[in-house]
Amino acid sequence: MTNTGLQDMRSDAELLDHILDHIDNNTTDLGDEEWYEPVEHYASQTRFDAERRLMRRLPIPFCPVAALPEPGSYVARNSAGVPIVVVRDLQGSIRAFRNACRHRGMQLADGSGCTKIFRCNYHGWAYRLDGRLEYVPHEHGFPDLNKDNNGLVPVHSVDIQGGLVFITQDEPVGPGALESLPKLLTDDQIIFESNEKVEEINWKLTAEGTLEGYHIKPTHPESFFPYGYDNLNVVEMQGPNSRVCYPFRRIEKLRSVT
Ligand code: FES
Repeated sequence: MTNTGLQDMRSDAELLDHILDHIDNNTTDLGDEEWYEPVEHYASQTRFDAERRLMRRLPIPFCPVAALPEPGSYVARNSAGVPIVVVRDLQGSIRAFRNACRHRGMQLADGSGCTKIFRCNYHGWAYRLDGRLEYVPHEHGFPDLNKDNNGLVPVHSVDIQGGLVFITQDEPVGPGALESLPKLLTDDQIIFESNEKVEEINWKLTAEGTLEGYHIKPTHPESFFPYGYDNLNVVEMQGPNSRVCYPFRRIEKLRSVT
């Protein structure tokens, strides 16, 4: 039960009317047709590799801007299978690099923090916050090394939108993915809490769980269901992006302001 076809996002007032209509009629958004996802789509290594290559060519949200409050603040994690470090440089710009030393590929940064320089723990090569290779121990042992050509490898592009850092690692598949992203978040995001969980499952299983509310009552009988609705989804598409809404019951309080 997904997909209402290509459309622009509703305004807040239109969205409210649409949700109240579903509540009154005990209905939900429905797709144009049923869809059976082949099991092969979850099990195929070839498909998985192709999906990750595609993700590297799309702007992917990497971290909140708020995670990089000052020069030297960095966040390191994998994105589409590639170790990446995002850092705020001394001039305040946010940059993103492959998190790999140019000598033997050792990972340079781990987790998050603040640093003046990225120093490799293996042989001690050191990189400035703008990625330039600053220092090579016993440099006389590398007579052909041109330090200017051996800085950290930057991703294709870094974009900031809605208080989030998006990275596009490789040549983009085309324009429009970020431009058509609705301005739903303001720039002044703050971080209340963060955590990380690694699941040994295909990434689509996690993503798909957030794209349908058909499971809400059986799966969340004591957490979300008492505050929400069972099987009430509103799905909107805008370009390659989508918005999926699962309203809280307190939305009923807004009936009086429509
Ligand atoms: S791998 Fe980094 S200095 Fe050797």
